[in-house]
Amino acid sequence: MADIKENIMEKIVALCKRRGFIYQGSEIYGGLSGTWDYGPLGVELKNNIRDAWWRFFVRERDDMYGIDSAILMNSKVWEASGHVGGFADPMVECKKCKRRFREDSLDTARDKQGTCPECAGALGDVREFNMMFKTHVGATEDDASVSYLRPETAQGMFVNFKNVIDSFHPKLPFGIAQVGKAFRNEIAPRDFTFRSREFEIMEFEYFIREADWEKQFEYWQSEMMRWIEIVGIGKGNVHEVKVPNEELAHYSKRTTDLYFDFPFGQKELYGLAYRTDFDLKNHSAASGTELLYSDEENKTPFTPHVIEPTFGLDRTVLAVLCSAYTEDEMGGEKRIYLKFKPSIAPIKVAVFPLLRNKPELVKKAREVYELLCSMFHGSRSMIAWDESGNIGKRYRRQDEIGTPFCITVDFDSLEKGDVTVRERDTGKQERVRIDQLESHLREIFEH
Ligand code: GAP
Repeated sequence: MADIKENIMEKIVALCKRRGFIYQGSEIYGGLSGTWDYGPLGVELKNNIRDAWWRFFVRERDDMYGIDSAILMNSKVWEASGHVGGFADPMVECKKCKRRFREDSLDTARDKQGTCPECAGALGDVREFNMMFKTHVGATEDDASVSYLRPETAQGMFVNFKNVIDSFHPKLPFGIAQVGKAFRNEIAPRDFTFRSREFEIMEFEYFIREADWEKQFEYWQSEMMRWIEIVGIGKGNVHEVKVPNEELAHYSKRTTDLYFDFPFGQKELYGLAYRTDFDLKNHSAASGTELLYSDEENKTPFTPHVIEPTFGLDRTVLAVLCSAYTEDEMGGEKRIYLKFKPSIAPIKVAVFPLLRNKPELVKKAREVYELLCSMFHGSRSMIAWDESGNIGKRYRRQDEIGTPFCITVDFDSLEKGDVTVRERDTGKQERVRIDQLESHLREIFEH
C-alpha cells in the first residue's frame, strides 16, 4: 500500500512538472532545496485558491478586515512575539559529514544509537536551531540593522491592530486577515512543496472577548471544514487532531490541527489556535503603544483575546492536487485526470475544431472560442485552444490538467449551430446550442 501511495506522489510530481504546474526552484542550477516555482497552470490554480479563500473568509463577511503588511518588520516585533527566543526546532549535526537533521526525524534504531543516517558518522548534541532567516536592512551590517524574513504573517495583523481600530472602529468580534509569503529555514525540507523554506500563508486573527473563546473556537473549526469542501479537498481524508498541551506553540492555549491523508502520510494541513491575549499584550509592553479595545458598551478598555485559523496556501494546492489526482479507464484506455472543482480549475473550457485542415470548422471553432473568452470577461488564458492530434488525444491532454469541459465544433455545428460538450469526469457528451453555451456552462460553474 505504502509503495502504491509513494508511487502516486511520484506521478503527481512528474505531472506537475510535465504540464507546467510546479517546477523545482532554480532548477537549471541544480535547484535550491526547499524552494519551488509555480508554472503557468500552477500559478492560476494557486491564484484561484487564494481568491476563493479571500472571498469566503474576507469579502463575504462584514466582520473581517484585509491587510497586506510588509515581509520585513522591525526586529523588535520578533523579540516581542517570542520568535527570536523560541521559534526553533531541535537539531543534531553529524560531526563527520556536517549534515543536519531534525532531531524528531531520527527515529530508526540505528539513528537512535547516535550515528548519522547518511554516513554513519557520530552525531553531535541536540541543539535548538532558530528557523528565521536573518538579514540586514540598509548598508550597515551590524546588530542594529538585523531584520528577519517573517516566519508567519500573523504578526502583521497584531502590529496593525490599532491602525485598523482607529480607521474603522470595528465592533468586537472582528478579524484581520492577510495572505502572503512566509520564510522558514527548515532543517529538512521534504515531500514536494509540503515542507518548503519559502511558502505562502492565508490566515486571520479573530479578536474576541475571553469568555467567548470556546464558542468561537468551535465556530471557526466548522468554518474551516466548510472551506475544505469549497476548495475541493476530500473531506473524508481530513482529520481533526487536538495538539497535546506539551506540544503547543509558545503562544497557544489550545490548538487543533487539521491533518490530511497525503500520499506520504497523514500530515498537518491547517491549524486553529487559541492565542489568548499573548501577542497583543506582548506588543503593548514592548512597543509602549496600548493595544486595547473599547466601545460604547465596553467603556473600560481591555485586551481582546484571539482565535487564529491558519491555512498554508502551498499545502492547500498540494492537498487539492492529491485529492484531484485520479486514474481510471475510459474507452478501454488508462487515463489520468485531475478532478478539480470547476471554480478552481486553471483552465475552464477547451475548444477544438474537429479537423484542423477544414477552414470552415476552424473559423466556427474560433468564433466559439472568442464567445467563451468574452463569457469569462476576456480571461483568454482560462480557455484552451487545441487542434493537434485526434480528439481522443486532445481529451486526454485536457483531462490531465483538470479542464472540466471540452467543446468540439464539427460539421453539424455549421448547419445546426450546436457543439459537443464533453464532461471531464464521466466522459459524457451532449449537444448544446452555441447560443445556449453561456447558460449551460454558468449553471455548472455555480455549483
Ligand atoms: N500563524 C500561525 C502559524 O504560522 P503554523 O502552523 O506554523 O502556524 C501555518 O503555519 C501553516 O503554514 C501550516 O498549517 C501549514 O499549512 C503551513 N506551513 C507551515 N510550515 C510550512 C512549510 N515549511 N512549508 C509549507 N507550508 C508550511
